[in-house]
Amino acid sequence: MSRLFLCDVTEIAPGTPTKIEVEDLVLAVFKIEDAIYAIDDQCTHGPGSLSEGELDGHYIECDFHQGGFDVRTGEPVVPPCMIPIRTYEVTVENGQVFIDRERPAVACANKL
Ligand code: FES
Repeated sequence: MSRLFLCDVTEIAPGTPTKIEVEDLVLAVFKIEDAIYAIDDQCTHGPGSLSEGELDGHYIECDFHQGGFDVRTGEPVVPPCMIPIRTYEVTVENGQVFIDRERPAVACANKL
């Protein structure tokens, strides 16, 4: 089963990262404007936890070396991050947030 329940929408504060653990995954989850985004919590550059980072618009800054990623695509946008962070397709149904652990984020699929 690749679809996993994460939490209720109300458990994700707008504009700040939320750390959610489900099965073997540790995720950083974001509510930005009218969408939810989910990425791996572990920075691809090192030991940084992205849920401890600073969110600026759609960009998350790792608190370890201040590298950054676009949470919509997982693309590294600020060095020293060079390797994309894994994203997950998010769906929201009846106020509940789900991810598909086998599918990357899809634009517009995660609107609230
Ligand atoms: Fe995240 Fe280095 S561990 S930028």
